[in-house]
Amino acid sequence: MDGSIPNLAGQQKRYLETQLGLFASGARVDTAMQIVTAHPKTADHADFSAVAAYLSALQWNPSPVTGLGEHLRVGQEIYTHICAACHDADGRGQATNRVPRIAGQHYPYLRRQVEEAARLHRDLAPPEMSSALRGMRESEKDALADYVARLGNSEPLSDPERPHRP
Ligand code: HEC
Repeated sequence: MDGSIPNLAGQQKRYLETQLGLFASGARVDTAMQIVTAHPKTADHADFSAVAAYLSALQWNPSPVTGLGEHLRVGQEIYTHICAACHDADGRGQATNRVPRIAGQHYPYLRRQVEEAARLHRDLAPPEMSSALRGMRESEKDALADYVARLGNSEPLSDPERPHRP
């Protein structure tokens, strides 16, 4: 389990349903997922609802793959300013608006999605958010994805920032 495949247990039901539909129609592209949704057993959209309901009721994985734990405060700052408005302060997403839960998602998957975030959110993001995302440094993207992977974990956010060397 390298964390490149997202946790789906405990994900928002409406979000899962929409995404399965998008994979099936080809609007969201992922070869493995296209093969799955083209399978005769999943071709019926009623089954998407059933799968989404099943997955959303499962217990969220409490120990996702995380990053290096550096600069988590930077990640927290960015998250609070530009992500929490929709994904919620604790990263649980929204049941009604198809905003996915991202708290406790695997770091490698999140890191990839943060890279794509400007595109991923293009229909919903206000322009200042898109430009903030595009202007982010690599180290800030690492910190943001790592912070989100750790969100929802009961451990308090320790400050791993190393003491400044003179
Ligand atoms: C304007 C509301 C909004 C804001 C602000 C926002 N998001 Fe999202 N985000 C969404 C919605 C809605 C989706 C689902 C998009 C879709 O249907 O494909 C999403 C999808 C995602 C996904 C994909 C989740 C998955 O399981 O594939 C990630 C990761 C994500 N957002 C991270 C972020 C981060 C990090 C920020 C801050 C930099 C952010 N979002 C800001 C609304 C928002």
